[in-house]
Amino acid sequence: MSPKSRAKRITRIVEPAPFTPCFAYRGSPSARQNLFCEGVSLDRIAGSVGTPAYVYSRGSIEGAYRALDRAFGSLPHTLCYAVKANSNLAVLRVLADLGSSFDIVSGGELDRLRRIGVPGNRIVFSGVGKTVEEIHEAIRYPGSRSRSAGILVFHVESAAELDLLLAEASRHISAGGSRPNASLRVNPDVMAGGHPHIATGGRGHKFGVSWDEARQLYLAHKDSRWLAWRGISAHLGSQIFSLRPYRQALTRLASYARDLAREGIPLDYIDIGGGLGIRYTRESPLVPATYARALARIVRPLGCRLLIEPGRALVGPAGVLLTRVLYEKANRAKNFVIVDAAMNDLIRPVLYGATHAITPAVRHRSARTKATRVDVVGPVCESADFLARDWLLPQVRPGDVLVVWTAGAYGFVQSSNYNARRRAAEVLVEGRKFRIVRERENYDDLVRGEQL
Ligand code: LLP
Repeated sequence: MSPKSRAKRITRIVEPAPFTPCFAYRGSPSARQNLFCEGVSLDRIAGSVGTPAYVYSRGSIEGAYRALDRAFGSLPHTLCYAVKANSNLAVLRVLADLGSSFDIVSGGELDRLRRIGVPGNRIVFSGVGKTVEEIHEAIRYPGSRSRSAGILVFHVESAAELDLLLAEASRHISAGGSRPNASLRVNPDVMAGGHPHIATGGRGHKFGVSWDEARQLYLAHKDSRWLAWRGISAHLGSQIFSLRPYRQALTRLASYARDLAREGIPLDYIDIGGGLGIRYTRESPLVPATYARALARIVRPLGCRLLIEPGRALVGPAGVLLTRVLYEKANRAKNFVIVDAAMNDLIRPVLYGATHAITPAVRHRSARTKATRVDVVGPVCESADFLARDWLLPQVRPGDVLVVWTAGAYGFVQSSNYNARRRAAEVLVEGRKFRIVRERENYDDLVRGEQL
């Protein structure tokens, strides 16, 4: 569905229902209301930090993590937050403090975890293109005091990667190190996910190895001196709202784990990846308890620990993007609100046809009665530069702050310097306090490393 037609269907939502209790309008409905993140007004943050700025609620991240963790109850499980969704150090620290483990896909993400002191036994490493340097670093990553060094498990995605891991491991072990733990990431051949770009578990996708190849590789390296098979993993896609693909893939993973145990390869971990969908406008996310119950039913009889890799579900609803109105204009039949955030700040609308709700940080009763359909666009020189199309917005004026909702996941991390624009500031709200957790870039940052 094109972004335009999707936005068009949303006829009644001018302001979204509170997606998370940590964001709410306060004040008199008959006069002026201010949108608060926990105990701080977003208009105040915009005034103090400037715009565009990403704002994250600590309480919202904590609430999402705890709800999901609690849902699994007594089932042995580990939540491995997918760092790619939002890798700000302060956000990672919030999750580390909650006891979260982490799913990484690059040396850069590993480095971020090292900087905040996450021990190796809380890290799993996925990704189709791990380089020799990344494998080298992860094998030698500091463990916790109680465990040997290295990360919890490498999710190996091809036979060639396995060869590289074995070669690196043999060097490491010859120098006195211990065997790395590994699992194979299978391509489950299950279609799921909200947009073609974010579906990953189909047979035509680059991720993982086929079921047959996985079996061969497990058996070929059954008694390896250089690595220990510890698990099996899969990731189906993102923005999933149905239990069916999870059940389908996990049932298959479980039967593989049983088969491998019979072959003398008992596994400790079974990893079903991330993908839990969230509500941007009108989607109906899976209830954590329902999701957990369905997975637990399949995994419990195996006696394996279940790993899940949620990204968006933990941080998406916890973040908003603040932007200020620069101009309004009408071109023939179209009304435009031109704001100071652009596609370089939030690429999801144009890349995935994603709809992020947009509302004013301060709403006036009189303005609400004059809602009109507008395209909310940025200053970048492309027609692809829009945050929303045909969005019903109350009357706004230059200088007003707009709030782009549900931007905590895949927002800042996918931002760029296109058009020589400085990347936005990031702010963390904790109760009545807020602090900048990443400064807005300056022009020196933009030319760092360049030579004349
Ligand atoms: N595990 C693996 C191996 C993944 O590749 C991903 C996401 C996740 C976990 C986390 O998935 P989540 O729970 O966040 O759905 N940029 C896109 C999303 C790309 C997701 C890529 N992989 C977007 O903005 O929608």
